[in-house]
Amino acid sequence: MAMKLCCRILIHRRNSVFFGFPSPKSHSHHPFPEIPSISRMNFTHRHEFHNFSPRILGFRGAIDRTQKPFSATIANWGRFRVFSSACNGNCVGRGLHVIASIASNVRSYSTSVETRVNEKNFERIYVPNGLNVKPLIVERIDKDENIGIDEEFRVEDNGERVNNENSKGLHNVVVPNVGKEESTVEKEAWKLLRNAVVTYCGSPIGTLAANDPADKQPLNYDQVFIRDFIPSALAFLLKGEAEIVRHFLLHTLQLQSWEKTVDCYSPGQGLMPASFKVRTIPLDENKFEEVLDPDFGESAIGRVAPVDSGLWWIILLRAYGKITGDYTLQERVDVQTGIKLILNLCLSDGFDMFPSLLVTDGSCMIDRRMGIHGHPLEIQALFYSALRCSREMLSIDEGSKNLVRAINNRLSALSFHIREYYWIDMKKINEIYRYKTEEYSTDATNKFNIYPEQIPHWLVDWIPEKGGYLIGNLQPAHMDFRFFTLGNLWSIVSSLGTPKQNEAILNLMEAKWDDLMGNMPLKICYPALEYDEWRIITGSDPKNSPWSYHNGGSWPTLLWQFTLACMKMGRPELARKAVDLAEKRLPEDHWPEYYDTRNGRFIGKQARLYQTWSIAGFLTSKMLLDNPEVASLLFWEEDYELLEICVCGLRNSGRVKCSRGVAKSQILV
Ligand code: GLC
Repeated sequence: MAMKLCCRILIHRRNSVFFGFPSPKSHSHHPFPEIPSISRMNFTHRHEFHNFSPRILGFRGAIDRTQKPFSATIANWGRFRVFSSACNGNCVGRGLHVIASIASNVRSYSTSVETRVNEKNFERIYVPNGLNVKPLIVERIDKDENIGIDEEFRVEDNGERVNNENSKGLHNVVVPNVGKEESTVEKEAWKLLRNAVVTYCGSPIGTLAANDPADKQPLNYDQVFIRDFIPSALAFLLKGEAEIVRHFLLHTLQLQSWEKTVDCYSPGQGLMPASFKVRTIPLDENKFEEVLDPDFGESAIGRVAPVDSGLWWIILLRAYGKITGDYTLQERVDVQTGIKLILNLCLSDGFDMFPSLLVTDGSCMIDRRMGIHGHPLEIQALFYSALRCSREMLSIDEGSKNLVRAINNRLSALSFHIREYYWIDMKKINEIYRYKTEEYSTDATNKFNIYPEQIPHWLVDWIPEKGGYLIGNLQPAHMDFRFFTLGNLWSIVSSLGTPKQNEAILNLMEAKWDDLMGNMPLKICYPALEYDEWRIITGSDPKNSPWSYHNGGSWPTLLWQFTLACMKMGRPELARKAVDLAEKRLPEDHWPEYYDTRNGRFIGKQARLYQTWSIAGFLTSKMLLDNPEVASLLFWEEDYELLEICVCGLRNSGRVKCSRGVAKSQILV
């Protein structure tokens, strides 16, 4: 399809009154950046702004109506909180339009953006306050309070150039040789996956969350979710089709930098949306415009924060480089800045007492109230992986060395924390069972003041002799003993757990096969919350009723993570067993989103059919099993250097009890 794309780029400085209405987080000390005055003139004179928070990213072009994107009328614009140009005749033809985006190459023009990010200095002082075995890591570097990454900065650019830029480097792609005849089920899955592809300005950019033509109320399942796209991306990468992934990475990067508001409050810069939608806006003269409309949680049910999106984005960026061999993408200045923005957000100081990331409920795959606020394992495992990915990808220079040091310190402290305090097996449960409480001192054994009565009845019978797992969450006086599958699997994949712990998690999954796999892999968590617990913890959520959806439902998409974990631990046969189970049922049941009941016998009550990440998860699992060498690019082995940092930290702390032995023992656990 021939499309004439033309765009201007605006990088919006949050702390300004440039749009005629002050930003809620305005700070007067922010210096106004150098903006070519001609651009500002154009901007103010030629465009009229609706009084909405600007956020949509768009390209103008005549669009073929057979394209997939949703069509919206101008009257709907207010709902989408778009700002649009007041186009008076002459601007239409010339494509003069303000676009809320940072084009893929724009950040390279903005050296000030880069410098500021690099100036992000970290002061991390982990004082072992009540955590006597916690490593003491002291980093003190001057702090720049004025870290502002938004720039109000406008560049005119040509959309075609931007798109060409997006495809640059693809000629380097190293395509893994799949070379195996596909089964009928795989063929069907590929057809469905391709049907779910969303295009933007003529290029593939992502996949719909679900694509059931019979579904009359898709809610937001007709959007591209960042986390849902990961298995799709891997399937395409493994198939040697990298273009869609490259486009996805670059376009979501543009969305990251845009202003977002939730009831007049702006969430942190660097946040990646949970999802986005390609909307088609009709213009004059039978022309249409495509715009990207991101959701940062402001429309999401429950207004949940998509903490995992940025972490997944970083993980995917690394996978793209590893599988295609095209490292030019991650080396780009705008991409490097994107990584740093996400890290700044994750590494910034708050009230946290622990190296784990503090988040609100529903900030990951479980995006509803399920009692996973605080320090849920899934987020910690993704955070750990994203830090490891970033360390590999960040260009090392004077400006980024503080950040790299902060990453190393955090990695070391985080793995220590999780390995030491989240791990449970028979022995540890017995220890907790005999805990003394109310210990006030830095060398307490029961550091989090866990009352032994908290050990749930089900666990006493459930925990196998051989095996163990990482608990779902840890807070003062609170251990969430539920088994959360994604967090445990991703701890194996990223080596957040020790080698022995990783092995023990798989042992437990094998021993508890009927509970976790049942009739359809894979339980999202075990067990379900029932009765009063369900009422109090979920807020009587009927969608999360016991053994349904997030509350003990079975999610086929988790198959690819299970496959990867099994392959890493040298147990592909375990993965094959699960994949075979899914292969028999998924096509028959029309690829549902999730299954219900204790053993996953029913298609989920409100499960979407033709759920893309169920399809892609299956395909990715199959291809990983067929390509062990490529699979090995996607997991991490133990990093002994990190353990050394830990040892040094402990040594420096001068606490005899936390000496070398403790950290070293992590390797042996
Ligand atoms: C549900 C899931 C979430 C997923 C979304 C789209 O909200 O909980 O993890 O991203 O559907 O499939």
